[in-house]
Amino acid sequence: MTTPVLEARGLTKRYGRVVAIDGSDLSLYPGEILAVIGDNGAGKSSLIKALSGALIPDSGSIFLDGNQVHFRTPMDARTAGIETVYQTLALAPGLDIADNLFLGREERRSGTLGSMFRMLDRRHMRDEAKRHMSDLGVATLQNIGQAVESLSGGQRQAVAVARSAAFGSKVVILDEPTAALGVKEGNRVLQLIRDVRDRGLPVILISHNMPHVFEVADRIHIQRLGKRATVITPASHSMSEAVAIMTGAAQPPPQPVAP
Ligand SMILES: Nc1ncnc2c1ncn2[C@@H]1O[C@H](COP(=O)(O)OP(=O)(O)O)[C@@H](O)[C@H]1O
Ligand SMILES: [Mg+2]
Repeated sequence: MTTPVLEARGLTKRYGRVVAIDGSDLSLYPGEILAVIGDNGAGKSSLIKALSGALIPDSGSIFLDGNQVHFRTPMDARTAGIETVYQTLALAPGLDIADNLFLGREERRSGTLGSMFRMLDRRHMRDEAKRHMSDLGVATLQNIGQAVESLSGGQRQAVAVARSAAFGSKVVILDEPTAALGVKEGNRVLQLIRDVRDRGLPVILISHNMPHVFEVADRIHIQRLGKRATVITPASHSMSEAVAIMTGAAQPPPQPVAP
């Protein structure tokens, strides 16, 4: 039996009388893209926030590579190797691509220039940024010194995904990465997500876009009423069957599909 890279068991979170997540499970296995789908209010964002340290659950447990973790802040999760790209991309529009890739984790120059004067190692950051972007085939971004505000939505998303892939050592979580994109840009970002998986990082992809989900997901976690209703695959179910389970019109298969 393979150990999940990331696993949630029985997570709950209440806001007053509102139950955002109600004993939710989640399992992400090595080498997979796990899509998370569900109606508005199903608890997708809350579940993902708990996994990325942005929310402390009232109860339940989280395991990384089989070891229980207790994230108190998003930094705790990042330090543990979980990178999350939120729907509202945390990019700085006025800064260039290289600066954005290293936002919040700038590399200092070695020696006293770095330690005393806190000088940034800009050349190294630029080279690294270039390497990450070209590793992921983000070829349209010729100029790593281009300001992010001059990029299209898809290119910005690519920067955010590349950043998460560059720094996430265990898991990448993407919240609606293609929601605001056109067809062509959306497809490019989907390819980027596949590339991230193929390079060995499992991905959790939250999306409302059923064609996108069915195109890239290895397994599909269906969240309903604050819980995992089941897990299906693009091979086991059609899009309309998935939507029927999501909305409660159809009964979910009792056993989540294993990878
Ligand atoms: N910070 C909050 N305060 C109060 N209620 C919240 C908060 N966050 C989420 N909720 C509620 O919890 C439920 C699940 O929300 P959410 O996790 O955002 O679902 P989803 O992402 O699937 O739409 C919703 O009823 C929502 O209104
Ligand atoms: Mg949400």
